[in-house]
Amino acid sequence: MIFTVAIDGPAAAGKGTISRAVAERFGLAHLDTGLLYRAVGAMGGDPVAAARALCPADLDREGLRSLEAGQAASRVAAIPEVRKALVAFQRDFARREGGAVLDGRDIGTVICPGADVKLFVTASAEVRARRRWLELGGEDAPKPYDAVLAEVQERDERDMNRADAPLRPAADAHLLDTSELSVEDAVRAACAEVARALG
Ligand code: C5P
Repeated sequence: MIFTVAIDGPAAAGKGTISRAVAERFGLAHLDTGLLYRAVGAMGGDPVAAARALCPADLDREGLRSLEAGQAASRVAAIPEVRKALVAFQRDFARREGGAVLDGRDIGTVICPGADVKLFVTASAEVRARRRWLELGGEDAPKPYDAVLAEVQERDERDMNRADAPLRPAADAHLLDTSELSVEDAVRAACAEVARALG
């Protein structure tokens, strides 16, 4: 069975949690495509050469989940040759036997426009920044909430306004705003869409 679920949306909207839960529930493979850009950003040197040479082991490097790695990722992600170098890996993953969930920014629009299910997961910038800040330790976080909010807004701005594959919902994506939803309710809503597509 070839079956592709595309889950897009801005940072900290809940894509990762939802994608992992959907993959587990339906027995699908999962690729967090943000890790590809994070790995390229973390490699230093020429980002185009890094993207062309990327191998799966690079996705296991330490420190890729940090806020700084996210900022570096969003800078290299604006380079069209970097994006082009990462297309084949993502498309191959999407078409693997047994089905796959890919989460990112442009999965439903560019990488897999024919995906069987497309979800666009979003939440207000304030809610997303608060989640990130709590993940970083809340009052014990190394940065105040306002600084985290500024970084979230800066990354949104760059991701939504780049010329190549900007962050936006596909015309046929189901919108899922998690601002007011519990994790369980968000996962339930996403699984319902996938179950419907699977028949
Ligand atoms: O999802 P994550 O926060 O790990 O992504 C890091 C950055 O990588 C994003 O801010 C975005 O610029 C870029 N990205 C992208 N396309 C994807 C996944 C991530 O441009 N499919």
